[in-house]
Amino acid sequence: MKKIAVMTSGGDAPGMNAGIRAVTRTALQKGLEVVGIYRGYQGMIEGDFIPLDRFRVSNIIQRGGTFLKTARSEEFRTVEGRAKAAAHLKKEGIEALVVIGGDGSFRGAAALHAEHGIQVVGCPGTIDNDLYGTDYTIGYDTAVNTAVQAIDQIRDTADSHNRLFFVEVMGRDAGFIALRTGLASGAESVLVPETTTYIDELITKLEEGRKLKKASAIIIVAEGDDEGGALDIAKKVNEKFDAWETKVTVLGHIQRGGSPTAFDRILASRMGNSAVEALLKGSTNVMIGQRNNEMVEVPFTQASKHHETLNPHLLELVEILS
Ligand code: F6P
Repeated sequence: MKKIAVMTSGGDAPGMNAGIRAVTRTALQKGLEVVGIYRGYQGMIEGDFIPLDRFRVSNIIQRGGTFLKTARSEEFRTVEGRAKAAAHLKKEGIEALVVIGGDGSFRGAAALHAEHGIQVVGCPGTIDNDLYGTDYTIGYDTAVNTAVQAIDQIRDTADSHNRLFFVEVMGRDAGFIALRTGLASGAESVLVPETTTYIDELITKLEEGRKLKKASAIIIVAEGDDEGGALDIAKKVNEKFDAWETKVTVLGHIQRGGSPTAFDRILASRMGNSAVEALLKGSTNVMIGQRNNEMVEVPFTQASKHHETLNPHLLELVEILS
């Protein structure tokens, strides 16, 4: 193998730049040439490539977003789109690819391998932590820290005005961001897609809090909760409980930006390094995961089929400590 490519795909996540840097510098150190692909699969279809040397990836480890940009490409979902993309890779002499992204990106990589024989390895880059076979995905820790910081600020004003806040966090159909954010911010309750939300139980809990003379309450709502987003849930609660004035905050895309935490930089550096090593030993169709602090290879078919289960003890801990 002489030349590999690296790209970011799907929603951006803090730490992706650290991953690109690690892939590039590891590959160069092993004597490989490295090409960056702009805008994920869409850039691959358009042949939007840039040669990467060690200086092109200087001064990016601390930056959020992805300097290679990212996109979700409809055209790449078609056989014709993938054929165009593969033709550009072949013309450039690129034999293998590292994709930093989520489950959709890995499905795309698997199709590229099946139809055109390109060797593909993935690094899990998503704030949602919703991939199977890894304890953490790149960007998750930063997103949680961003959400916790925002909620600390909400708590000041909630407490000053004796208000009930519903704070919606991202996570698609997974509750990892909500759970960790709720635990770290001392929330009253955390509502996640993995468990059924009972509005009446939530109201009982809030009433108990009032009786204990609590000044305010913060409920974390995962965007994929079965009872709806924070606005829907606040409305349903307010129909029966209005002892506290109620406010809703949707944290939104601030969770995707910002400088990556040290944890995410280190995770991305290790994963990027392992991805190149995996390519060199001939692996394909695998995601690099972190299990018990070790780098492991997880087949794409497993990684993107479903996500890990939420730790029920942590959900219980939120209730015990609130
Ligand atoms: O997958 C990352 C994520 O931020 C999810 O948490 C969220 O549901 C989605 O992407 C938002 O996507 P977009 O930025 O395309 O609106």
